[in-house]
Amino acid sequence: KSIGMGYASGKIILMGEHSVVYGEPAIAFPFSGTGIQATIRKHKLESWIESSFFHGPLSEAPTTMRNVTILLWYLVKHFKIPEPFYLKVESSIPAERGMGSSAAVAVAITRAVFDWMEEPTTQKNVLYFVNQAEAVAHGNPSGIDATTISGTEPILYQKEIGFQPFQLNMDAYLVVADTGIKGQTRKAVRDIAKLMELRPRETAKQIKSLGRLTQQAQQAILKNQPHILGDCMNQAQGLLRLLGTSNRHLDHLIETALNHEALGAKLTGGGRGGCMIALAENETSGRQLQQILLAAGARNTWIEGLGVYAHV
Ligand code: PMV
Repeated sequence: KSIGMGYASGKIILMGEHSVVYGEPAIAFPFSGTGIQATIRKHKLESWIESSFFHGPLSEAPTTMRNVTILLWYLVKHFKIPEPFYLKVESSIPAERGMGSSAAVAVAITRAVFDWMEEPTTQKNVLYFVNQAEAVAHGNPSGIDATTISGTEPILYQKEIGFQPFQLNMDAYLVVADTGIKGQTRKAVRDIAKLMELRPRETAKQIKSLGRLTQQAQQAILKNQPHILGDCMNQAQGLLRLLGTSNRHLDHLIETALNHEALGAKLTGGGRGGCMIALAENETSGRQLQQILLAAGARNTWIEGLGVYAHV
């Protein structure tokens, strides 16, 4: 085959970021609003990367792209892919905003290589390679990003236990807004680990409460109770704030959403910037929220009907 192509969407964590690192459950879904397309083919002189982030010889890729270079090393070794190659990565996922862009880059590249080599892809064999890249990008990843993005359905995820498909089917809309500020997942995860050392009892209690809120949210979704889900989101945000993962940009958008009829609002993903999510009762109020959040300084917004997954 002369060319290999692979696509991956972004992801949204509805409930359970950070506590998922400590074994608590989390709910996440692949987010079709954004995605990454990777294309790979033979090249003449040397292996080359073409992306908005970096374009040039693979040998000169910056250290911030170590997740990609390590992934490529594994893929080259495993598939004996013809070198030199030309790899193009086109992304509509804002980087470092809690939408799992690093996992999506890895999934898209891995799928492109599988396609090029005409190997059948399963979620399991894609994940094997993606996890290598995520360990570099994240330090101590729970695996939720890679698992969500390499799949097609909303999931309930628990570290070590794995994931189960989850019917995210509810009469409500989720608005996603990007603060435009780069999140700091790696640092936020490390800082919570430090809190765990400094204030073990209090921090462990907060992490447990986040886990319990995810379970309550799960029940609310099963019973189609958007108001209760919204309440769980608000309580989770309070705890995430106490754990130091929010910031004033997120707080501002969250407060704005709550002042304009959102049923609940919280950060999503690593925090310290990145994106927030707000639950809206119907599409009209969701679209209004989008406008209000843009006027309040959001860089970009998206809307997702939570009923759309009903028949996946
Ligand atoms: O910021 P993102 O999109 O990489 O999401 C990170 C989610 C965390 O729970 C904070 C970390 C993890 O590994 O689960």
